[in-house]
Amino acid sequence: MSEHKRKILITSALPYANGPIHLGHLVEYIQTDIWSRFQKMRGHDCTYVCADDAHGTPIMLRAQNEGIEPEQLIARIAKEHQADFADFAIAFDNYHSTHSPENRELASLIYKRLRDGGHIETRTITQAYDPEKEMFLPDRFIKGTCPKCGAEDQYGDNCEACGATYSPTELKNAVSAISGAKPIEKESEHHFFRLADFEGMLSYWIKGEHMQPEIAHKLKEWFESGLQDWDISRDAPYFGFEIPGAPGKYFYVWLDAPIGYMASFKNLCNDSDGHDFNEYWSANSKTELYHFIGKDIAYFHTLFWPAMLTGSGFRTPNAVYCHGFLTVNGAKMSKSRGTFIMARTYLDHLNPEYLRYYFAAKLSSGIDDIDLNLEDFQARVNSDLVGKVVNIASRCAGFIAKRFDGHLSSSLCEPGLHREFVEAGGTIARHYEKREYGHAMRTIMALADRANVYIDEAKPWVVAKEEGKDAELHDICTMGINLFHILMTYLKPVLPTTAELAEAFLNIKPMNWNNYEFPLTSHTINQFTPLMTRVEPERVEAMLEASKQHLEKTAAATPATAKKGSGNIEPIGETIQYDDFAKIDLRIAKIVKAEHVEGADKLLQLTLDIGDGTRNVFAGIKSAYAPEDLEGKLTVMVANLAPRKMRFGMSEGMVLAAGPGGKDLFILNPDEGALPGMRVK
Ligand code: MSP
Ligand code: ZN
Repeated sequence: MSEHKRKILITSALPYANGPIHLGHLVEYIQTDIWSRFQKMRGHDCTYVCADDAHGTPIMLRAQNEGIEPEQLIARIAKEHQADFADFAIAFDNYHSTHSPENRELASLIYKRLRDGGHIETRTITQAYDPEKEMFLPDRFIKGTCPKCGAEDQYGDNCEACGATYSPTELKNAVSAISGAKPIEKESEHHFFRLADFEGMLSYWIKGEHMQPEIAHKLKEWFESGLQDWDISRDAPYFGFEIPGAPGKYFYVWLDAPIGYMASFKNLCNDSDGHDFNEYWSANSKTELYHFIGKDIAYFHTLFWPAMLTGSGFRTPNAVYCHGFLTVNGAKMSKSRGTFIMARTYLDHLNPEYLRYYFAAKLSSGIDDIDLNLEDFQARVNSDLVGKVVNIASRCAGFIAKRFDGHLSSSLCEPGLHREFVEAGGTIARHYEKREYGHAMRTIMALADRANVYIDEAKPWVVAKEEGKDAELHDICTMGINLFHILMTYLKPVLPTTAELAEAFLNIKPMNWNNYEFPLTSHTINQFTPLMTRVEPERVEAMLEASKQHLEKTAAATPATAKKGSGNIEPIGETIQYDDFAKIDLRIAKIVKAEHVEGADKLLQLTLDIGDGTRNVFAGIKSAYAPEDLEGKLTVMVANLAPRKMRFGMSEGMVLAAGPGGKDLFILNPDEGALPGMRVK
């Protein structure tokens, strides 16, 4: 290979240890894995590391809620994550955890260097505090009425109804989402990272093509609006690392999360795999470092992270590569439509290589969202992989086996065509290198078309029936097998498992990028077995159905207003005892009237018939239902909720709905046959 052997370290973002891997996450891990496999096939020394992001309030609360220690929770989730990744053939060289000795040591080291360099400042701030739970409340654990538009049940930092942003202290009728208590204000000393100290370094970094132009643009905006100090500490109780020299103070999860990249690599070096930690991370490192991330976390990776690294004497990344978000059938993944698909649910029904190929076909170096259209998914996989690529092998393999005892002929009858395929390798490699996988897949499929045209024209099935044409038949099929071999080499970063099956069929050593320059002639191949079968529509349906059922199982445990967005499941608050639950009087209610509420963005005013009379209830379901959709419907209500005075009037109960929020909010809809007033058990 003409290129020198590069030393490359690459990472994917560290998934939170509080929930399962879903198809959205997989966009990233598949994108990174393809790049890693490609670099390795090219003969480079490429190392791909990742870890679970195990710290923070949501993980602490979820563990409490399950009645286990956070260490137990993260150990369980780590197993699940790694099983999912392994089954999608994501080949990490190391998978670690941010809750590890290496990470504790590195986070302390980086913090101390920043502190000793004068980049850490402490000052006292006032924050919302839950007096019952005895903890400070992060913004998303405070709920209340939007100070701008009056929408109820909004988070402490922004209003989903009107888009306003504010501080939790401005929220009206604020309550703790954990205990329901009214938060008080309390002072505490916090540690801040002085980002502005790195203004010079960062303005230089932005210009250095270390990220896509769209991200650089965004960065400039952030930059121009001023570099704010970053609060890197949290008070106990917190699941994380205690800050050296500051008892009771913990590193904020986002401080030690990116350090987890270093820690995972260090853990690999400690396993004496031959890599030298300092060679990769010292300020003057000659190795290459790339982070693959989603665009939602660009701020952390393109501002804080390079500044932290510089301030503590380490190298900065060569580049941070952002990708867009996954949509399914053109819309945000939706639990109710069954399109919020967990990695495991997919694996229960479909071949992971289908998804790897589909994502590859859709991925580019840009940050646009990518859509998994399930119809298109089936059509593409069936037509490209099964119809074009695998078909080439199956059209030739039978003759080679039956007529030539598995032997290929001694030379290629169409060397020009073979050369054309070999030469396309340069273009395809450039596409992979630039993360233009879509272009790479299109170039490969154009070659596959070319190979099929060759076979169509050579008509081996006709030649096979003609007397004395054995040599011709042998040559045609040998050509076909060789073209298939080249295509599978090009596809190997995307389809590692299918490529392995092809290696077994072709009876060859693991394929490397330039192996195809040496044609398979005078070589014996093995019996052909279908390398990949068509996507069956019933399996896709079954996967959607299973995803819906998964929703039903979790619906009861998920607040109806669960935050939309990154797909994280809202942490469940404190557990209640059975006696508390038994006090809730759930009744079937008939919605006899539903009306808009003047001045409220989210609320509808419902008149509910519960047999013994009607109740007036304000429900925040306007995003999902028009009043006329509701009238006449049955629902379930909490009948003994103490009446609550709201800005628009008295609310005398609560209706039950489930879903991720927005348009996807479902009134629980009892069977016909239920009568208003019936108790719900
Ligand atoms: N723990 C942080 C990352 C810390 S990195 C030092 C985090 N975790 S996450 O589990 O929420 O997301 C992990 C990665 O998956 C992120 O890069 C995120 O952008 C990506 N994705 C999560 N949902 C996604 C989609 N729906 N679509 C595409 N990527 C998505 O953020
Ligand atoms: Zn608002």
